[in-house]
Amino acid sequence: MLETPRLVLRPYRRRDVVSIHDAVVASWADLVPWLPWATGYNRGSAAQFVRESQAAWQEGRAYDFTIRHLTGYGDGLGPPDPGRHLGGISIWYVSRVNLVGEVGYWVRSDLAGRGICTEAAARVLDYGFGELGLHRIVVRIAVGNRASERVAEKLGFRYEGTLRQEVKVGSTWLDHTVWGMLEDEWRNGGPG
Ligand SMILES: CC(C)(COP(=O)(O)OP(=O)(O)OC[C@H]1O[C@@H](n2cnc3c(N)ncnc32)[C@H](O)[C@@H]1OP(=O)(O)O)[C@@H](O)C(=O)NCCC(=O)NCCS
Repeated sequence: MLETPRLVLRPYRRRDVVSIHDAVVASWADLVPWLPWATGYNRGSAAQFVRESQAAWQEGRAYDFTIRHLTGYGDGLGPPDPGRHLGGISIWYVSRVNLVGEVGYWVRSDLAGRGICTEAAARVLDYGFGELGLHRIVVRIAVGNRASERVAEKLGFRYEGTLRQEVKVGSTWLDHTVWGMLEDEWRNGGPG
């Protein structure tokens, strides 16, 4: 479990299925344009995700966290509600040999724009460069997703290039931009 000033990030449990599904459905309009898994999402998808996430943790492949607001009033996130899934953030190994990881995230629509993603991602970057011992962490962002680019910029990621037609959302191929952060850059406050 990871903590930030306003949030708790913890691994998924089987009883999270309903709250994950509720959050995805409430955020569909913002998720579907960018994330292929969001289309057709149902309770079964959420249950499968939790099973796969638990297996990935056990095998040390990937670390998925549900973002929760457990305590704290007057912090801009409304009343604390541990039963509410605020969004998801994950970090996984791209290469164990080269110590490269990738981060992915989403935040429920009714709480977007309040700094949740940036706060959660900063903690996950600490986890990646610290506990996981990564040398380099990347984020891939579909071209046009300004909110996500803004998160990467605020964290200090550097734009490194564009991968052509790397992800298919619905019937549309989207380009992905790649953003990178090196461990020493993170320790020194971002690449500047
Ligand atoms: C991208 C996402 C995770 C951001 O979460 P969040 O908690 O709202 O992020 P933050 O509040 O930390 O920061 C968002 C920033 O983007 C900005 N932003 C939001 N929408 C924007 C838009 N359409 N154009 C430009 N900037 C935008 C916000 O103003 C904020 O920047 P600021 O602090 O300089 O004002 C969330 O919007 C989301 O889940 N989107 C759908 C799924 C997705 O795209 N996931 C990422 C895939 S790579």
